[in-house]
Amino acid sequence: MMLTQKIKDRKARIGVIGLGYVGLPLVIRFCEESFRVIGFDIDPVKVQKLNRGESYIKHIPPEKLKEIINKKAFEASSDYRRLKEVDCIIICVPTPLKKNKDPDLSYVKITSDEIARHLKKGHLVSLESTTYPGTTREILLPGFEAKGLKAGKDFFLVFSPEREDPGNPKYNTRNIPKVVGGITPQCTEAGKTLYEQIIDRVITVQSTEVAEFTKLLENIFRGVNIALVNELKMLADRMGIDIWEVIEASSTKPFGFMPFYPGPGLGGHCIPIDPFHLSWKAKEYDFTTRFIELAGQINTGMPDYVVARIIDGLNSDGKCLKTSKILVLGVAYKKDTDDIRESPAVEIISMLKDKGAKVDYHDPHIPSFSGMRHYPGLSMQSIPLTENSLKRYDCAVIITDHSMYDYAWLVKNSKLIVDSRNAAKSIKSRKIIKA
Ligand SMILES: NC(=O)c1ccc[n+]([C@@H]2O[C@H](COP(=O)([O-])OP(=O)(O)OC[C@H]3O[C@@H](n4cnc5c(N)ncnc54)[C@H](O)[C@@H]3O)[C@@H](O)[C@H]2O)c1
Repeated sequence: MMLTQKIKDRKARIGVIGLGYVGLPLVIRFCEESFRVIGFDIDPVKVQKLNRGESYIKHIPPEKLKEIINKKAFEASSDYRRLKEVDCIIICVPTPLKKNKDPDLSYVKITSDEIARHLKKGHLVSLESTTYPGTTREILLPGFEAKGLKAGKDFFLVFSPEREDPGNPKYNTRNIPKVVGGITPQCTEAGKTLYEQIIDRVITVQSTEVAEFTKLLENIFRGVNIALVNELKMLADRMGIDIWEVIEASSTKPFGFMPFYPGPGLGGHCIPIDPFHLSWKAKEYDFTTRFIELAGQINTGMPDYVVARIIDGLNSDGKCLKTSKILVLGVAYKKDTDDIRESPAVEIISMLKDKGAKVDYHDPHIPSFSGMRHYPGLSMQSIPLTENSLKRYDCAVIITDHSMYDYAWLVKNSKLIVDSRNAAKSIKSRKIIKA
């Protein structure tokens, strides 16, 4: 049977490689549409947990996993030989940066080699991991064609960027439009057919490179605009002007303006990392991506700015950082999530500790953390948040504006509040310093 017919008939079996923030929601979506899915992950603990119906991602309820396991729609495995049992393979493995900010494509390469080993006629492979333009053609394709199979004829290869926005109540895997670009038009068509079964709107583009670049443009657009408001925030602070009020006023213009908000620095797996995939590739073309570099410099400097504002605040209370006790409120990189990856909170905590302050944190979604990539020695537990505990700190710093915080209560019971998110905007108090 033709692959596209098999997909439409729900007879095609799906393999999702990398069962994290991107892979798991995709698994669930395919199961909801009556596909049978095998999830592959090299982490045996995750595989065992999933097969027991346990979720390790806050916004994925265990009941959902149990439901798809019980109806035998899903199972997790670490055994790549089982790739032979599936028709469509979707790759969602990490694409971090190395210490020197070069892309680390080792996860993609390992996965690609494993797929090549088990590739069969009729397979459709889609790479979703964010990466530089050229990855699909330069890294995946040669290994697949070395097996004597031809793309577009014997197997199909596409790139389709992930656009997951964890915790967003309005946009989910189903209603976020999906871009697909294939190695050949036949590949694009096969990819489009697959994604159309689970996603409301699929947009096709000319090539895998266009699809790869599309994702980077989206993230660079965010990174650059956030850097712009971060820089303007520092100027506005110096001028005694409230940047948030400025942004709110500018947002009333019904055309040609889109608000971005300043903060304590970038976090998460995407915006701080992805633009540098393109900067790296640009060097091959003797091209310097100045906007990306500049935005990177400004955004990575924001934790220093927050620390400087904490020092200013303590100073006006006649205190110095070295002998102060600081409470960091929120360590997730994003409001209402439990994702701490690349969070500026961790950098701020580490800087404060280096300067001699005694630091604790509270986060309703992250009871403890340790083993962070850049801070392997840092291991902390969230403290209970009470009137008495708050009063013990010289300064409370809002890094993540989680909705569950009662900001009026926080201000009332704190000696000093440094607010990097404008979270306490509705409260008038001399105790609040914006950062
Ligand atoms: N999280 C997001 O919101 C988001 C949004 C858009 C794009 N992306 C991109 O999607 C990709 C995946 O991100 P994520 O957030 O899901 O990462 P993640 O760390 O949550 O999950 C990746 C999973 O892949 C597994 N893995 C690693 N190597 C493997 C291998 N060789 N074989 C099988 N499994 C392997 C890991 O154990 C982990 O469970 C990245 O390229 C990221 O940039 C993420």
